[in-house]
Amino acid sequence: MPRRLPSKRKLDDRQRCTIIGADLPETEIFCGDLLIQSLSGSPRSIGCMYYYDDTGSALFERLCKEDSYYLFRAEREILAQYAKPIADMTGPASLVELGSGNAQKTRLLINAYVENHGPTSYAAIDVNRSILEKAAENLLSMTPDLNFTGIIGVYQTGLKQAATVMGPKLLVCLGASVGNMYDDELHDLLHSVRTLFALGDYFLVGIDLDKDSNILEAAYNNQSAILTNLCVLQHLNWRFDGNFNVFQFRHVAFHNKSLCRMESHLEAMQPQSVNLEKLEFSLCLEKGEMIRTEIMRKVNLHTFNGILMKHGLNPVHHWTDTERRYAVCLFQIVDR
Ligand SMILES: C[S@@+](CC[C@H](N)C(=O)[O-])C[C@H]1O[C@@H](n2cnc3c(N)ncnc32)[C@H](O)[C@@H]1O
Repeated sequence: MPRRLPSKRKLDDRQRCTIIGADLPETEIFCGDLLIQSLSGSPRSIGCMYYYDDTGSALFERLCKEDSYYLFRAEREILAQYAKPIADMTGPASLVELGSGNAQKTRLLINAYVENHGPTSYAAIDVNRSILEKAAENLLSMTPDLNFTGIIGVYQTGLKQAATVMGPKLLVCLGASVGNMYDDELHDLLHSVRTLFALGDYFLVGIDLDKDSNILEAAYNNQSAILTNLCVLQHLNWRFDGNFNVFQFRHVAFHNKSLCRMESHLEAMQPQSVNLEKLEFSLCLEKGEMIRTEIMRKVNLHTFNGILMKHGLNPVHHWTDTERRYAVCLFQIVDR
């Protein structure tokens, strides 16, 4: 059920803001069965959405400020320079964003749509409710001609809700979040985009380009990256009544060149057994055993375009930062 924001907000802001999914049980978002499956798999893994409880989201904001983590600044540079041409290219559209976070960079895009086309609607999908409320607060106070809908949930459910918005749409996915998806997840997402959205709708995607291992490994081995990774275990502890001992794990991030991706892992520094009480699940780890927590694709644009084209998304244009480290790519749904 749609829920209006708390009354301390200005009436005007509240009227322009709706939060959907506030009464959705969190067990439907952070599904225990899927976690058990991934922790029992080979290799063991944890879905990257477990990075983003409130502590993890704050640590991600800190990571974006690290000198070595160039991705945030590169994408912001592109949007600061090209948001208006993007808005010109698509014409008026409602914006829908996958994994909006605090929407700091999206604001550049929203401002361009408001300037070019007048009052604009923006629907932000995210698993973290607090970050959606923060995004709403920031955006509505700065942009009077904006209607904000926050959709609490995972990409796939959020997309179904957002796709019901009338009129032309621009789906946005920033922060290289598509790069965190495994092949099957990316294919499922692209299939949903093509089937749920209309012919002529656009998809704007931020993605990191493949580059020297030293630059990549520095971006994911700074202090904030290490803390963010270890905090995944704390997230599992509070959410599922677990007893992971964070001090018995080591952060490991490396460039897997053959798979064109960075990988983050947590390595057990001694043999241990862990219980997640709420899931009635226990896990025995050997010394040196790794749990993969995230992949980050590093793409070649030609290959990336090929993947989206297979799903009926036609490349329209792409923009890079001045150092050509990162790209923001515009696709259009052309074929069903
Ligand atoms: C890498 S951050 C990017 C945030 C923002 N777009 C940016 O560029 O700074 C990913 C965001 O997606 C959200 N997220 C991660 N997995 C998700 C999922 N499966 N469904 C919905 N949101 C998800 C996280 O809560 C987080 O805010």
